[in-house]
Amino acid sequence: MEKVRFTKEKETMLGTLYGRALDARRADPVLGDTAADEAVGRIDYDFSRLGVNQDTAMSVVIRARAMDELAKAWLDRHPDAVVLHLGCGMDTRVFRLDPPLTVAWFDVDYPDVIALRERIYPARPGYATIGSSVIDFAWLERVPADRPTLIVAEGLTMYLTSATGTELVRRLVGRFPSGRLIWDFFSTLGIKIQFLNPVVRRANAKLHWGIDDPHELERYGLRLLSCLDATDWASPEVAARLPVGSRLALRASTLIPALRRMGRIGEWEF
Ligand SMILES: C[S@@+](CC[C@H](N)C(=O)[O-])C[C@H]1O[C@@H](n2cnc3c(N)ncnc32)[C@H](O)[C@@H]1O
Repeated sequence: MEKVRFTKEKETMLGTLYGRALDARRADPVLGDTAADEAVGRIDYDFSRLGVNQDTAMSVVIRARAMDELAKAWLDRHPDAVVLHLGCGMDTRVFRLDPPLTVAWFDVDYPDVIALRERIYPARPGYATIGSSVIDFAWLERVPADRPTLIVAEGLTMYLTSATGTELVRRLVGRFPSGRLIWDFFSTLGIKIQFLNPVVRRANAKLHWGIDDPHELERYGLRLLSCLDATDWASPEVAARLPVGSRLALRASTLIPALRRMGRIGEWEF
């Protein structure tokens, strides 16, 4: 067992990991991330601490699935790509998508988070980790900058500030020749009512950056391609497989645009 002691934004990644593990334990899982469940079994941590249960787990799971689908669609057309998975936490996305060996995949998070990843998950060809804050920009020098680049960040932007987040976008767009950003983000309302989010509250994490209009990022050299409200993350077929509580919560938020748009997934190209 790996004993861990994370706090604040780093601890939240144990909540999202546990959410995916709970889904994997269901008879009809939405994501089926059995590696997440195995990882939970190897980490010595009280996973009940952050208040994640079968119902609350589902928003994490449908978000991960929607982002996997967007990433896979782009990667299928760019088998020579570089992938930057920012704020990866303990997410097993590289195993779920299982890209061809021609893809160079980098998982980036703080050094102690990356150290845990390396103790829990096996190495694989074409895969590397970078232990750094995403806003200590020297890490960018370690990544090849001559290939189409997919930059995925799930559950990260809200922990950055508007200043550091937009500087990150500027640096990424300035360094890589072309590519896609697939990032989720909260609205400013989502940031204001962050105390309602049990994982954030219990980890004592702080959310800063809210984005109400994803076109805002276009001034840093991106072009918005699509934006999915939380109610669009699950197809009707997937939604039908959710536990009753989360299905009802999803249906209720469809009726209120401000709630529907509190968490969104954007896809931008550059
Ligand atoms: C909510 S968790 C999401 C983790 C993972 N993407 C997932 O979906 O399970 C937030 C993650 O962002 C990471 N993070 C927050 N700020 C960061 C920064 N400045 N640099 C690198 N990682 C950061 C945290 O360490 C944590 O792993």
